[in-house]
Amino acid sequence: MRPTRAFIDTRALRANLRRIRELAPERRVMAILKANAYGHGQAVVARALDEADAFGVAFLEEALELRNTGIAKPILLLEGFFGAHELPFLERYGLWTVVHSEAQVEALERAKLETPITVWLKIDTGMHRLGCAPEEAQALYRRLSACGSVAQPVNWMTHFASADEMRDPQTAEQLRLYRELTAGFPGEHSLCNSAGVLAWPEAHGDWLRPGVMLYGISPLTGQTGPELGLQPVMTLESQLIASRFLKAGERIGYGGTYVLPADTHIGVVAVGYGDGYPRHAPTGTPVLINGRRLPIVGRVSMDMITVDLGMEPAGQVGDKVVLWGRDLPVEEIAEGADTIAYELVCAITKRVPSYTPDFEFDDGC
Ligand SMILES: Cc1ncc(COP(=O)(O)O)c(C=O)c1O
Repeated sequence: MRPTRAFIDTRALRANLRRIRELAPERRVMAILKANAYGHGQAVVARALDEADAFGVAFLEEALELRNTGIAKPILLLEGFFGAHELPFLERYGLWTVVHSEAQVEALERAKLETPITVWLKIDTGMHRLGCAPEEAQALYRRLSACGSVAQPVNWMTHFASADEMRDPQTAEQLRLYRELTAGFPGEHSLCNSAGVLAWPEAHGDWLRPGVMLYGISPLTGQTGPELGLQPVMTLESQLIASRFLKAGERIGYGGTYVLPADTHIGVVAVGYGDGYPRHAPTGTPVLINGRRLPIVGRVSMDMITVDLGMEPAGQVGDKVVLWGRDLPVEEIAEGADTIAYELVCAITKRVPSYTPDFEFDDGC
């Protein structure tokens, strides 16, 4: 069997949830599990986080997958429903929805559901992605409050564009506008993603919506998860499957872009962009072999990468190779590949099996 795998540490997941509770003991936590729980496996993560108060996913199909694995907790559709045809599913499966447009309010008014649906009205306070315009918010709220298909009271939410940049005035401005628009209305409030949880305690509201920090990854640039008291959840591992001694001047990999400056041993690791390892990881990106950081050299190919093992080879065929995880922060690999850790973990492909210590099943990654 190919030795490439993602190890999912469910104890770390639970520890990260506890860390969030420490940071915000009075708040409820909606654990964000979209995109297959950021590549970690939605069912495994949902079961590990049975102490979360609710889950958030992007859309209906992701929520139905969770319900099908037996998850009974509230689930919020962060992008809302895409058409009136989805409403019967929301009713039947007890799903909560974001409402961000007048068209959605109209669909709910026409729907005449037997069991009212829990709704979060999302205001665009400045990110200019999803959310109703500030000047429409109160009128839409009143219409939802009078709608028989909507559970009362209607809740409020917004999303911060720059919560990870403490010096950027945008978050304070978004918060000011949000407070102004929602003051005096009933309903619960949700504003904070992971960066908001960590950096904006005054904006915590009733419900936090942490995603990336649950997986032990830092949302703040220049800091890693462990530096923020978080434990990395995913370790991506493979093995050295070949090793050769090569002379100075030999060219390595596709395009021969890397020329050996000195004689060395080149090891081949069974992981590549077909597994989600970033193709743009440059020469010098570290991997861990026998506790030592060694640089990848040459281009990343679909199934393999090449590593400079040195004259006295630091590893042999069969040795374990860690691509990222507890001792090699995924944030560091992402930065070197000019991307963010979110993208790396989400990009792990189906052919990488995942393993968890406390669950007997393996539902892939
Ligand atoms: C509306 C909303 N809330 C919360 C989150 C979680 O964000 P993070 O993973 O940065 O905590 C996301 C993710 O993008 C989101 O879109």
